[in-house]
Amino acid sequence: MIEPTAAVGVRPVLSVRGLRVLLHTEAGLLPAVDGVDFDLAPGRTLALVGESGAGKSLTSLAIMRLAGRGAKGRGVTLEGQVHLDSGDATQGNSGIVELLGAPLAQMQALRGKALAMIFQEPMTSLNPVFRVGWQIAEALVRHEGLTRAQADARALEMLQLVGIPDAAARVRAFPHELSGGMRQRVMIAMALACRPRLLIADEPTTALDVTVQAQVLALMRRLQAEMGTAVLFITHDLGVVAQMADEVAVLYAGRVVEHADVRSLFAAPRHPYTAGLLRSMPNVAGSVAGELVQPIAGSMPALTRLPRGCAFHPRCEFAQAGPCTEAMPALADLGAGRAVRCARHAEIEVAGAGRAAGRAA
Ligand SMILES: Nc1ncnc2c1ncn2[C@@H]1O[C@H](COP(=O)(O)OP(=O)(O)OP(=O)(O)O)[C@@H](O)[C@H]1O
Ligand SMILES: [Mg+2]
Repeated sequence: MIEPTAAVGVRPVLSVRGLRVLLHTEAGLLPAVDGVDFDLAPGRTLALVGESGAGKSLTSLAIMRLAGRGAKGRGVTLEGQVHLDSGDATQGNSGIVELLGAPLAQMQALRGKALAMIFQEPMTSLNPVFRVGWQIAEALVRHEGLTRAQADARALEMLQLVGIPDAAARVRAFPHELSGGMRQRVMIAMALACRPRLLIADEPTTALDVTVQAQVLALMRRLQAEMGTAVLFITHDLGVVAQMADEVAVLYAGRVVEHADVRSLFAAPRHPYTAGLLRSMPNVAGSVAGELVQPIAGSMPALTRLPRGCAFHPRCEFAQAGPCTEAMPALADLGAGRAVRCARHAEIEVAGAGRAAGRAA
C-alpha cells in the first residue's frame, strides 16, 4: 500500500519512492538520480527544478520508462518504486500500477492515456508526415476505442480547446505549417486528448517567446483545472515555477535537496542551493528588479567526480569541514510538507544570506 499525500489527504496520482537512475558508462554505474521521493495529488503541480544536469529529465523519463532510450550512453538501471493511480480498475490493484516493474505492453497502454508527456521540442512528439488532426485522432482511436469519425470530431474539439485559430482548417495542417507556439498547443492537445491522470511537462515552453510562453502556461493551467490532471512540471525557470507550481522539489546532483510548497520556498528557502537559485534569477519573488542577479559560483560536479559529503558543499558559503564534508546529509523532515537536505539547516539562516527570501516574506 502507498501512503496518502499528508498535506491533501487524498490518494496520490503518482508516488515515487527511492527512485534511482544508474547510468551504465565506461566509468561504471553512475547514479544520475539517487533516491528521489515525492507524491503528487490529483490536480496539483509539482515543479522539479535545478541546474542543467541535475537529473530532472532523467527522473521524468524514468517514470515514463523512457530513460536510456537516447543515443548517449549504454543504457540505464532503474531502482525504486513508482506507483501510478491509473484511474482504471481493469489495470488491477484498484488501478494502481507500479511502473518500474510493469510489463512494457502495459506501459505502452498507459503512455498517452493515463500518463502523457510533453517536451520542449514539439517535433519530438509530433510526426512530421501526418496531419495534426489525424495524429490527435489516432491516439483517441487507439486508447479510447473511438471510431475514426468520433475521433476526428474530438480532435477538432481539442484544437479549438487549446486556442488554435481556424481549427477546422488547421486540423488538416502538417506540423511544419504551424508556428512554434501553435505546434506547442497541438502537442498539449494531443497529450490531453485522452484526459491523462498525470501529465509530465519537461521545459514545455522554454523555446517559446515570452508572450506565447505566458499564453501556453495559462492554457495548461486552465485545462489542468478543468480535467483535474496532476502535473509534474520540469523547468530551470523559477519565474515559471512561481506561475505554475503548488509544490517544488529542488534537485542537485540527482538528489532532492529541498521540498516545499511554492510560497514557503520563495519566501524562506532553507537550503543554501535554493537560496542561491533564487538570487540568480531575475524578477522572481525574492529578487528585485534592478538589483544585480548573483549567479551561484562554480558549477554542479560531474557524476564521475561527486565530492564526499554534501554534493553542494564545494559551492556553499556555509560549508563546514566535518558535518558537510564527511557524509551525505539526510533529507530532514521539517513538517508541513517541507524537507531539506542540509547538515546545518538548524543553525544557519540562509534567508539572511542575501536578499533572496526576506523581501518576499
Ligand atoms: N542517456 C544518457 N547517457 C549518459 N548520460 C546521461 C544520459 N542522459 C542523461 N545523462 C547525464 O545524466 C545527468 C542528468 O541528466 P538530465 O538530462 O536528467 O539533466 P536535467 O536536469 O534534465 O538537465 P537540463 O536542464 O540540461 O535538461 C547529466 O549528467 C547527463 O549528462
Ligand atoms: Mg532536461
